[in-house]
Amino acid sequence: MTQPAQPPYFQRHIFFCLNERTNGENCCAQHGAQQAFDHCKRQVKAAGLAGPGKVRVNKAGCLDRCQGAPVAVVYPDGVWYSYVDHDDIDEIIESHLKNGRVVERLLLPADVGR
Ligand code: FES
Repeated sequence: MTQPAQPPYFQRHIFFCLNERTNGENCCAQHGAQQAFDHCKRQVKAAGLAGPGKVRVNKAGCLDRCQGAPVAVVYPDGVWYSYVDHDDIDEIIESHLKNGRVVERLLLPADVGR
């Protein structure tokens, strides 16, 4: 017997890779990932977007796409971003997390891996 479909607990998650490497390989931590995560968390809350039925901002370990660092991914959409500064994060919040519109200019190219 199948369960009736339930609405998702959160509409969207955004995961920020916060991984740090000390062996000289590229990593998100060396490109301001923690500051971007903190900024996103603050702004999502301030915009009233945080909470059940809305958006959850999550930390993640290495997402295995380090050459695009710093990276973040939005689920369930499966949309990957490479950002530079807080303005980029603000645009992802306003356009994608709030209004469901992908920010094309920040998309991580499909062939970027570890
Ligand atoms: S260190 Fe961030 S994706 Fe690997």
